[in-house]
Amino acid sequence: MKKHLIPNVINHVNKPTTVYCGVDPTASSLHLGNLLALISLFHFNILGHRTIILIGGATGSIGDPSGRNTERSPLSSSIVENNVLAIDRQLRKFFDNGSNYALRRGFIIENENNNVIIKNNLEWFQKMTALDLLNDIGRYLRVGTMLSKDSVKSRMENEGGISFTEFSYQLLQAYDFWYLYNYHDCQIQLGGSDQWGNITAGIDLIQKKKITNSINLTETNYKEIIDNKKSKDAFGITIPLLLTSSGEKFGKSAGNAIWLDDKMTSTYEFYQHFVKVADTDVEKYLQMFTFLKDEEISQILKTHFESPEKHYAQEKLASEITEMVHGLIGLKKARLATNIMFGTPIKDLCGQDIVEAFENDTQLLTTVNRNGILNCSIDRVAVSAGACKSRTEANKLIKSGGFYLNNERVKDPQHKLVESDLLDGILFIFRTGKSNYRLVKVIG
Ligand SMILES: *[C@@H]1O[C@H](CO)[C@@H](O)[C@H](O)[C@H]1NC(C)=O
Ligand SMILES: *[C@@H]1O[C@H](CO)[C@@H](O)[C@H](O)[C@H]1NC(C)=O
Ligand SMILES: *[C@@H]1O[C@H](CO)[C@@H](O)[C@H](O)[C@H]1NC(C)=O
Ligand SMILES: *[C@@H]1O[C@H](CO)[C@@H](O)[C@H](O)[C@H]1NC(C)=O
Ligand SMILES: *[C@@H]1O[C@H](CO)[C@@H](O)[C@H](O)[C@H]1NC(C)=O
Repeated sequence: MKKHLIPNVINHVNKPTTVYCGVDPTASSLHLGNLLALISLFHFNILGHRTIILIGGATGSIGDPSGRNTERSPLSSSIVENNVLAIDRQLRKFFDNGSNYALRRGFIIENENNNVIIKNNLEWFQKMTALDLLNDIGRYLRVGTMLSKDSVKSRMENEGGISFTEFSYQLLQAYDFWYLYNYHDCQIQLGGSDQWGNITAGIDLIQKKKITNSINLTETNYKEIIDNKKSKDAFGITIPLLLTSSGEKFGKSAGNAIWLDDKMTSTYEFYQHFVKVADTDVEKYLQMFTFLKDEEISQILKTHFESPEKHYAQEKLASEITEMVHGLIGLKKARLATNIMFGTPIKDLCGQDIVEAFENDTQLLTTVNRNGILNCSIDRVAVSAGACKSRTEANKLIKSGGFYLNNERVKDPQHKLVESDLLDGILFIFRTGKSNYRLVKVIG
């Protein structure tokens, strides 16, 4: 990324400038599909440029026209509002965790106070009247050009056509760029390659609308402002939409998004997603997604291909990205969970570590009282720890060989849980079926 991106734009970024990238608040979290754009933006940030992330509070309520045959059902404004807030918080965390990660990898961050600005385009669209829209934006854009965009064309060929609302998406995104250009001195928009049409629509609008009426032009500064604006062109950068070597969209697992929010995708699943990356993709991903130096990446690959079955490069990739997104605590959690779930002998694990790492993970960790479980038969404990719904279910599962205590199969439903089953006296682990884990913390 670093290598391919910079030469093309070097002339325009040799002095600090401002770069923006938009995200849609279609859910309460961003997902892996957003990550490459965020990392690219982050590189600009590290090099001392101002970076703006624009959350589409307005555009998100319209729905984007791409990748589907039918109109999206609109999200209610309260859902969009909540999503905007959640994504705003998440982005701040992302840039915090990311900066710490970059520092640990030896980067010098040029921006002292993390020069990231988060905006919501509802700020300008909610004040805009229908007449403003037609006069300030509509007037400058040609319908023919808008119709020729692939995302619009493909929908027009469809029976249902495209609504005026979704058709207007590019108009709004064009105005976003103009607005940020005009009021925040932003000259570069970055986005996935599917954003090409929206970005060029913005550049177009900026060129036509350059001499703006909304700035108060007085006799004295008129010429200066115009010269200034003229000398500052707007640019777009697109980054490829990643496909895996098997042709799937990057960042999905069986069609589902991998979220950046650890309550929606656990750090363990997040980590595992990268452990499963194909050998043919791993080098590319190490370069695009991590802040490792080229020499380090070559060294990793060399070690990896000496015994590829160990997935050394994948483990590195998973560790780096998990650390960047979820911080060192998140990485520790993911590693512990991996150890538990991949059969590291339980006695080699530290009960206290596990309890600390998963203390907030109520889906995985349950707390029970010592008196309620010690010397009780395992089928009862299974119910009180929430691993099974009923003793009947527990008995069935145990008889069929699908119930494990501390990764060892339980054969007798009447087996009594004793002190020595507890890891460091505070924890035991149930597993039902292939991979349903329940960590049980024992108190009292
Ligand atoms: C504009 O952005 C939307 C939302 O990401 C996308 O679906 C659409 O294809 C883009 N349209 C153009 C013309 O770039
Ligand atoms: C333009 O000037 C008027 C009067 O001085 C002021 O009220 C208005 O806010 C200014 N508009 C902008 C966009 O700065
Ligand atoms: C890092 O990410 C984790 C998981 O998303 C989060 O809980 C934590 O607060 C973040 N750390 C910082 C310093 O932002
Ligand atoms: C759990 O939540 C508490 C309170 O929010 C926080 O102080 C602590 O760091 C969290 N622990 C982990 C491992 O995330
Ligand atoms: C469990 O049984 C052992 C041995 O019979 C006994 O020493 C211990 O106090 C019992 N523990 C509880 C919590 O009942």
